[in-house]
Amino acid sequence: MSAKPLVIRNLSKSFKTKKIIEDLSFELDKGKIYGFLGPNGAGKTTTIRMLVSLLHADQGEITVNGFDLNTERSNALSRIGAVVENPEMYNLMSGMQNLNHFARMHKPKISEERINELVEFVELKGAIHDKVKTYSLGMKQRLGIAQALLHKPNVLILDEPTNGLDPKGIRQLRKYLRTLARDEGVTVLVSTHLLSETELMCDEVLIIQDGKFVKQFSMDEDSSEQTVNALFRGPSNQELIPLLEEFGTVEEEEKYIVVSGIQQEQVPTIIQTAAERGILLYEVILKDTLEDQFLELTGGESA
Ligand SMILES: Nc1ncnc2c1ncn2[C@@H]1O[C@H](COP(=O)(O)OP(=O)(O)OP(=O)(O)O)[C@@H](O)[C@H]1O
Ligand SMILES: [Mg+2]
Repeated sequence: MSAKPLVIRNLSKSFKTKKIIEDLSFELDKGKIYGFLGPNGAGKTTTIRMLVSLLHADQGEITVNGFDLNTERSNALSRIGAVVENPEMYNLMSGMQNLNHFARMHKPKISEERINELVEFVELKGAIHDKVKTYSLGMKQRLGIAQALLHKPNVLILDEPTNGLDPKGIRQLRKYLRTLARDEGVTVLVSTHLLSETELMCDEVLIIQDGKFVKQFSMDEDSSEQTVNALFRGPSNQELIPLLEEFGTVEEEEKYIVVSGIQQEQVPTIIQTAAERGILLYEVILKDTLEDQFLELTGGESA
């Protein structure tokens, strides 16, 4: 079996005396999209900066497709592409001039074909000869992604790529990442604050807090860990509550009765049972469970 695209073992980093990353380990599989989550200050950007060698770890090991970032640096780095914080572009140059500039830094040389292919991929063909200073944030972000992909990395790392993007921009990004992962087997690690976006975009979620690993889990619907909170509303709570109690823990909220921690497949059964017993329902809502899980795991701090 070939080596995993990215493996992090026992990574630690302090700034002065403050431990920022502590004994962090995780590994990523080929062709999957990972959401990298954690409250503000959890250490996501610091971890990413170490992954792309912008920062040196105090301890631990990072390997990219089996190549050690410390001892086989160029082999490791040639397999990683990243957009960390805001993409650094030359505003007075055109998008194409920027790509050509970054392409020249790579060995072996990046072909003109590859550059054109990426311009097409991130849908910047019409504006690629305009100066970057005329670009919208979304366009700059897309140019950044094209730049990160120039050398066909196996792992693409994006730090908060959805920051400031409008819904269309986010949808485009999702489409690109899916294509890269599904069609080209690229492994993608995306740090983000948008939990609902993570649910749509990612196959797996990795949560850290205070620089430590908290949990890694699949977003796969039928994973045994995946439960939902279902909100029910009907004309009579008196009738609804005993029925719902047969399925899970029930709590009365303002407008709804909340059944927490049930399997999604149970919901149609509940609706059917209610109908059979003549119990009326106005509304059923399934709640954003990643947010609940996240808050539970990180003790209530938002992402
Ligand atoms: N160069 C530095 N010197 C000292 N402390 C730093 C430095 N860079 C980051 N930190 C500290 O490390 C901690 C983690 O910061 P980091 O930026 O990695 O968090 P994050 O998870 O990316 O947060 P956010 O969600 O806000 O982007 C913070 O407490 C931050 O203040
Ligand atoms: Mg950050």
